Amino acid sequence: MPLPDAEQQAHCQKLTQHIVNEIQQGEGRIPFARFMAMALYEPGLGYYSAGSQKLGEAGDFVTAPEISPLFSRCIARNCLPILQQHGGHVLELGAGSGVMAADILLELERLSCLPESYMILDLSADLQQKQKKTLEQRVPHLLERIVWLKQLPRQSFVGVVLANEVLDAMPIHRFRIRDDQYFETHVVWSGEAFQFIDHDLSEKKLYAAIKEAVKLTVPCSNYISEINLSVRSWMASLAAVLAKGAVILIDYGFPAHEYYHPERAEGTLMCHYRHRAHDNPLIFPGLQDITAHVDFTAIAHAGVDAGFSLAGFTSQAYFLIGSGLDEMMAELDPDDIKNYLETAQQVKKLTLPHEMGELFKVIGFSKNMDTVLPGFVLQDARGRL
Ligand SMILES: C[S@@+](CC[C@H](N)C(=O)[O-])C[C@H]1O[C@@H](n2cnc3c(N)ncnc32)[C@H](O)[C@@H]1O
Repeated sequence: MPLPDAEQQAHCQKLTQHIVNEIQQGEGRIPFARFMAMALYEPGLGYYSAGSQKLGEAGDFVTAPEISPLFSRCIARNCLPILQQHGGHVLELGAGSGVMAADILLELERLSCLPESYMILDLSADLQQKQKKTLEQRVPHLLERIVWLKQLPRQSFVGVVLANEVLDAMPIHRFRIRDDQYFETHVVWSGEAFQFIDHDLSEKKLYAAIKEAVKLTVPCSNYISEINLSVRSWMASLAAVLAKGAVILIDYGFPAHEYYHPERAEGTLMCHYRHRAHDNPLIFPGLQDITAHVDFTAIAHAGVDAGFSLAGFTSQAYFLIGSGLDEMMAELDPDDIKNYLETAQQVKKLTLPHEMGELFKVIGFSKNMDTVLPGFVLQDARGRL
C-alpha cells in the first residue's frame, strides 16, 4: 500500500493519541464500535470529519453516483412518481461530494418536477463544504432549493429520503462466536499499535441481537461477524419525520441468511485506502475508510417495526434497468463514439453481476402511499429477506 506522507502521518498520530487517551482513561479497552466511530467521525480528526479527499479517482474509493450520472438519473425517476402524486421534498443523507444531488436535481428539472426543497444531512462538515462547491458549480440556478441540515427536520414532511452507501459507513459491533461462547471485539493499545481482543459479551441487548441475527447460521467453531445496532433507531427517526412518501437505501450487502453464512466466517469488514481494499481497520486511523456490508434483513425489520411498509428489495442492476437505464442509453447518439463508449463502460460497472450489479442492493420503504416505484417493478426479491 502507498505510505501516507508526513502531513497525513501527523494527522494519523493525532487521532491515534486521541483514541489511546480514551482507551487509557477507561478500562484499557474500548468496543470496536467505539473505535470505528472515532476513526470515522471524531470531530476534526475522523476520516469523514477531516479534510482528506475521500471520493473519486484521487481519493480512496468510487461510488455509483461518481461513476455515472445515469445512476442518479435513475434514482430521480423513482422520486418522480412520488413528487408528481404527492409533491414534497427530497432529503438525501450522507451526500458525499454532492454529485448525486446535482444529477437528481437536473433530471427532475428536465422532467418538470422539482421538489419544493432538496435537503442534505451529512455527518461530515468537510463533505458539506465539498457538496456546496459541487452544487454551486453544477446547479447554481437551483441553489435556493437546497438546504443543509444539522439534524433531521423538526417538522415531518412529504417526499423521498435517499441514502447511497451510508448504511455501510455506520459503526458496527464486531463479535466472535467460539464453541458456543459469545465475545465482543474490543480494541486495546499495545504501546505501538492497536490490537483486537475478545471480551465477554456482557451487554444483554447486544447478546440478544446477535443471537437473533445468527439464528439461521450453522454454527462453526470460530465465527466472526458484525452487527449494526444503530439501524433500528435510525429507521425509527426516519419514520418519525416522513409523514408520507418513500425511503430508498442503496448499499452492498446481503439478506441475513447469506450475511451470517458459515462461509463468511471472517465477517465483512473492509477498509479502503487509495483504491486498495483490505481488512485491517486498526491501521491508518483517520486516513482510511472502514465499512461493513449491510444485513438487509435487519434493515427490513427495522423499517417495518418503525411503521414503514416494505416497498421493494432488488439488486442494483434490476433497480436501474427498471428505472429506465436502457432507455437512457438508447437516447445517446451512437455517432458520438467517445461519449457512447464511455457511458457503455459506466453502465457495465453499475450493472454487471461481477461488478456492482449483484452485490449492491436497493431496499425501499413507503409510508401512507401506494405509489409504485419503477425500480422495484422488474424483480421483487422481498421474499429473500
Ligand atoms: C461512503 S460515503 C457515500 C457518499 C455518497 N452518498 C456517495 O454515494 O458518493 C458515506 C457518507 O455518509 C455520511 N454518513 C455516515 N453516517 C451518516 C448518518 N448517520 N447520517 C448522515 N450522513 C452519514 C458520511 O459522512 C459520508 O458522506
